[in-house]
Amino acid sequence: MAAPPAPHPCQEYDLGKFEILARDGASRIGRLHTKHGPLNTPMLLPVINPNIRTIEPKEMWEKFGIGGIITNSYIIWKHDKLKNLILEKGVHEVLDFPGVIVTDSGTFQSYVYGDVEVGVSEIVQFQKDIGVDIGTMLDIFGRPDMSRSQLEYAVEETANRATESLKVAGNNLLLNGPIQGGLHEDLRALSGSLMSSIEGEHRNFAIHPIGGIVPLMENQRYKELFQILLSSKSEIPANRPIHFFGCGHPLLFPLSIALGVDIFDSAAYVLFARDDRLLSPTGTIKLQDINEWPISSNALFSTTPEEVKNMDKNERTSLLSRHNLEITQAELSRCRAAIRDGKIWQLAEQRSHCSPQLRTAFLWVLDQLNEAGEGPVGESILDIISSTNPVRKGGESLSHDIELRPHILHLQALLATRWKSPGSWWDGSTSDPKRLVIIEKKAPPWRISSLQSIISYLIEEPNTIPLIVTPLGIIPFSLEDLSPWCHLDGSNEMWNISYDEDEIFEFLVDLGLEEIPYIMVPPESDYDDDTPNNEQIMDWLDRCAIVDKLALLCSISPSNGCKFTEGMSSRRSNTNRMVNVYADGKHILSPRLSDGGISLTLEGAKILAKMFPEVPNFEKEAKDLEYSGIPKICIIDDAIPFVGIGRNVMHGYISGADEHIIPGQPCLVVDSLGNLVAHGTALTTSTEMRVLKKGIAVKIRGGALKIS
Ligand code: GUN
Repeated sequence: MAAPPAPHPCQEYDLGKFEILARDGASRIGRLHTKHGPLNTPMLLPVINPNIRTIEPKEMWEKFGIGGIITNSYIIWKHDKLKNLILEKGVHEVLDFPGVIVTDSGTFQSYVYGDVEVGVSEIVQFQKDIGVDIGTMLDIFGRPDMSRSQLEYAVEETANRATESLKVAGNNLLLNGPIQGGLHEDLRALSGSLMSSIEGEHRNFAIHPIGGIVPLMENQRYKELFQILLSSKSEIPANRPIHFFGCGHPLLFPLSIALGVDIFDSAAYVLFARDDRLLSPTGTIKLQDINEWPISSNALFSTTPEEVKNMDKNERTSLLSRHNLEITQAELSRCRAAIRDGKIWQLAEQRSHCSPQLRTAFLWVLDQLNEAGEGPVGESILDIISSTNPVRKGGESLSHDIELRPHILHLQALLATRWKSPGSWWDGSTSDPKRLVIIEKKAPPWRISSLQSIISYLIEEPNTIPLIVTPLGIIPFSLEDLSPWCHLDGSNEMWNISYDEDEIFEFLVDLGLEEIPYIMVPPESDYDDDTPNNEQIMDWLDRCAIVDKLALLCSISPSNGCKFTEGMSSRRSNTNRMVNVYADGKHILSPRLSDGGISLTLEGAKILAKMFPEVPNFEKEAKDLEYSGIPKICIIDDAIPFVGIGRNVMHGYISGADEHIIPGQPCLVVDSLGNLVAHGTALTTSTEMRVLKKGIAVKIRGGALKIS
């Protein structure tokens, strides 16, 4: 295999910028720009002891795909010979590593050995002098067992040292600003807020590591670990990657990443190897306990456990370290693939079954998702849910914990808040609904399995709301092809679900339908499978589907949705699904067959821009409305000629963005007067659009400016 090419230094103006390339809620595939190339996240910085290089950094770069390493500037500073050599030649040459070099500051040594002798400015200056890409200020390690007042001191003193550290770092050395605060949620949030708001003379902190967590990981106190992460994160802006200081066991990667960690660092690959332990994504394996490899890797491929046990100590450590690093890298790439596929929570859930402590932590996270209480943890949880695209293509396996996955909670919340019963019926009447017809024990696609009975019931009583029972609750028939409700994978039995009266009542309360009488329709009582299609009813059902999806996914009120779809007609596919929707002869949108969402057309976007003339502005407070209308992004004048002809909206060119933007869903792009510039799919949230300065904010589907 050819060695990867030398990294390209970033452009001067991009130094320290973080961009989001893909995301699933809080988990993100990102890129931090440095002088030694991009740090592609989520990623692991293997810890290098400059005196004992079990795997040469160059080999990590060439054979393991390692883009960045971390070493300790204090250890270098303490050893005169090494210090002078590195001062003379630079850290990249001495470590022989072409990628990103991160250094720590000696704080961890102060935790292990007591005080360190180096000064706050001195250690930052040293990191700068040896040519490090990302250094770390000398923070105060807050142990979990410290008293509250000691932890308050750790938070305050770390923040007090920040301004001086940033000043010394200057313009070229990116700096880590660690978050302390022990187990106290409020102190973690305070530390996050202090450290992220400190404005440096040259630049601000580039990354926020979560510090003081090693003792928790050593004792497998994972619940507290994630509690700390969520409380710290509540105050950290989205343009600063989050580093989990000292975390490197692959078992912890999926859940950490699902909750927003971007960078890991650890010496686990070599420490475990020295102790004859193999890392695996599902836990740790002791070499002495095995006769066959329970996990495969290039490193182990041509050996047997017996042979490895008989190797001399150094050779064995070297081999097991390579295995451990390989497995670590493989799990990270699995996580990145899962983010792209919208499956990071599925992976986190699978891994949670591998350790009782991790399972406890995962269930605690699910409890938080279920309750979304107050305080910093609750805030982060709400952020996770609202930044998650509720719909996604592809099947999703039904599992015990599926209901509390953020995308499902988001969709259920949108259903509960934005869905309303129809205001008019297929026969033209406009009275209140008279009954609910709930189809149960039918498998999707419900437009095939249940359509005939629904038509029969609608003929019998036009003021009927058809609903269907799914394993994830009762939903309006109008949303029958919206994933994930219709894309669940599992045994056929799962569609046989039936809820008891109390459960049905709860679901109906969520929909605001609990006062309307209902009838349940079991499969055997389909009373008229031969009912001929009724054009008028079909048109009404189609219109309900579009109006309801516009409400849920675009925050367009049903009455505005009805105006937008006035005179609606559609073109259907061979399989009889709506593919193009027209209003008064104009093609306004297309339902997406892959996930049940909708894609606007330029014609549709133009009508909506007129319908919702308000221009978003970061300086203005958002109004709290039930339906805020199609989400909009206002761009600055410089960007209009590009976006207007179909180029994507880039971060840094945005002057306002509606708070109700949902990543993955349609939005309009307007100028400061509210004129339509383009329409597309938002990739980030409004809070992210406010702070990010690089990367795509909106993927444009069509520009509104004519190309002359
Ligand atoms: N390495 C592991 N934990 C910490 C921490 O809290 N601070 C610093 N600077 N390094 C660490």
